[in-house]
This record gives sequence, structure tokens and C-alpha cells, in this order.
Amino acid sequence: MLDAAIAAREEAAIAPPDLPRRDSGTAGLPLPDLYARVARHITPAEWPLHAREVEAIQRLKRERNAVILGHNYQAPEIFNTVADIVGDSLALAREAVNVEADVIVMAGVHFMAETAKLLNPSKTVLMPDMGAGCSLADSITGADIRLLRQHYPGVPVVTYVNTSAEVKAESDYCCTSGNAVKVVRHVAKEWGVNRILMLPDEYLAQNVQKQVPEIELIAWKGHCEVHERFTPQDIRDLRDNHPGVVVLAHPECPPEVVAEADYAGSTADMANYVGSHKPGRVVLITECSMADNVAVNHPDIEFVRPCNLCPHMRRITLANIRRALETMQGAVEIDPALAERARAAVERMIAIR
Ligand code: 13P
Ligand code: SF4
Repeated sequence: MLDAAIAAREEAAIAPPDLPRRDSGTAGLPLPDLYARVARHITPAEWPLHAREVEAIQRLKRERNAVILGHNYQAPEIFNTVADIVGDSLALAREAVNVEADVIVMAGVHFMAETAKLLNPSKTVLMPDMGAGCSLADSITGADIRLLRQHYPGVPVVTYVNTSAEVKAESDYCCTSGNAVKVVRHVAKEWGVNRILMLPDEYLAQNVQKQVPEIELIAWKGHCEVHERFTPQDIRDLRDNHPGVVVLAHPECPPEVVAEADYAGSTADMANYVGSHKPGRVVLITECSMADNVAVNHPDIEFVRPCNLCPHMRRITLANIRRALETMQGAVEIDPALAERARAAVERMIAIR
């Protein structure tokens, strides 16, 4: 089924995109309209607690001239009520370049805030909870890359954006799940090589490898703690229990899981697929909140929801976003010399269209 997944991916790539949403629409919406967006996930009894935070955040955003970038995995009450720009890692990196506000709050994980800071060195980038990390980012260090370079002299290094600024600084290019194939093809051509170190997500590298058999991708043993838990049997059980379900998987899943899916792509690719194909029944093999957020725009589609939560994404709450804007604490700082090298790897990625 992998070939079908790849063909579907190419077809979806030309469909009109559903995400990212780049607006400040939530800022102007009255509370009842905001509640309508999340009513399927938040009970009327819970809403007043959220509403208080939402109102305070909207006011603070105006006072601080701040925008909130929200990843697709953020909880519905953040994604649908206070985030100004939402999308996958690639969209958030691209949009970060265009931000005109003085302050950026990252409703996502630490490496995303670092990427926003790399692209906006003069702005204040706030992380509502500094503990919101990532198992992939934790799986590799700058020293590991220096050792790999000794072992593989002359082989270019492409690192997933889910890495620290220190690791990006040791890399030639970054990539995301949304552009990994394009980036490795570009690097192979640009450098005139047929071997690339693709780090640190072993499964992403293996999934990409299937699409670029002409290039040898050397992988690392990093895994996403959310996606590595899905198994091929999970997919077969979903198909048995939910006849006709269309299965979309994130390429951080093991290749055997992707092979059982109808389509594989980044979080934005999956959202776009739902928007353009409008399956009657669909399951997103990825983080839980993603389905909640995509479902807001597609009330007629049945979303089957197996649930693997990312504990890091869950650390971001309306309360700690409000606190960050109130206190201006939690600013991300990166050593300028290191930032310059890390920025170059991110900018080389963004330049590839
Ligand atoms: P994308 O949104 O780029 O698909 O990334 C998924 C992810 O795991 C981010 O942490
Ligand atoms: Fe990292 Fe996986 Fe969480 Fe994304 S979902 S932040 S890759 S641990």
C-alpha cells in the first residue's frame, strides 16, 4: 500500500491547502463564536474557566504587540481560540520570518521556539513552559554530529527541524516532514553526492528512503515517543472495527505502519488531504489533538480517534500562555555565534521551494 500512499501524497500536494491558517481572526471574534469552534471538545461547564484566560490573552496580545504561533498538535482551546498563525513545523518556520509583532509566543515545543528565535533574533520569543521538549530533539547532540562527520567525511548532514539550535549549527540543511524528500533531492544534486546523513529520526529517514532509492540515507536511532507506539496491527484493527476508514499516517511512524496507511504526510499534509478528499470516515495516525483541530473545519467527516498524546505539547496551557505574556518570562536566548550557523541551515531549507 506504500505506493498508493505516495501517489495519494502527490495528488494531495496539488490540492488547495487547508492549513496553515494565517490570520488574527481569533482576536476579533466574540467569545460565543470562539466557543462554537471548540464546543465538541469543551463542555459548557468548563468553558467559563477557559473564556477568562482567552479574554486575558487577547488583551495581553494587544498590549504587548504579540502573536501566538500554534502547532497543529496544540489543544483545541489554544489552537482555535488564541493562536494567530497555525500549521505544521514547516509553516511555522516559514511564517516566523514574516512576523511583524514585537513578541512571539510559541504554543508548541522548545525546538519550535528556538527556530522562531533564529529567524527573528531581535524579537522576544516566549516559551510558556521551558520543559516542553521533544524525544527526537533529545536523541542527538552537536558532539554526535561532529563524530559522524569524522566517520563520514564529505557527506552532507540534513537534520530534522526537531533538533536543538546546537545540532542545527552543526548541520548543512534542516528539513521537516513536509519537505524532507525535496530537501534530500536538492542536497544530492547541489553537492553532487548520493549519500546523505539524515538525522535524527530513523523512521522518517526510512520512509523518505523509499521515495529516493537513488540516494543512500544514513540514519540515526532517534524516535518520536508518540509515533513509535503505533503498530501495523493497530491499523489492521482500525480497518476491521471501522469499515471504510481512510488511514493517514505521519512519517515519524515506523515504516511498517506507513505501509499499512492510505497516505503519509506531515500534519499539514494530512489536514490538506482531509480538506481535498473529504473522506466519509478517517483516522489520523498521529498525536491526538490533531484530529480535534482538523475536525473543527469538517463537521460532516467522522474522525476515528486512537489517542497517543505528546506529553511535551500538553505542557502548553492557556494559563501558562497568559502568564508568559503577563510576566514576559521564558524568553528563548541562543548564543549569537551558534545562532548564526544554525540559522544558515534553517534558511537554506526555507529557500528550497
Ligand atoms: P509536522 O507538524 O512538521 O508534521 O511535525 C510533527 C511533529 O512531531 C512536531 O513535533
Ligand atoms: Fe517531539 Fe513527537 Fe512530541 Fe512531536 S510529537 S514534539 S516529534 S515527541
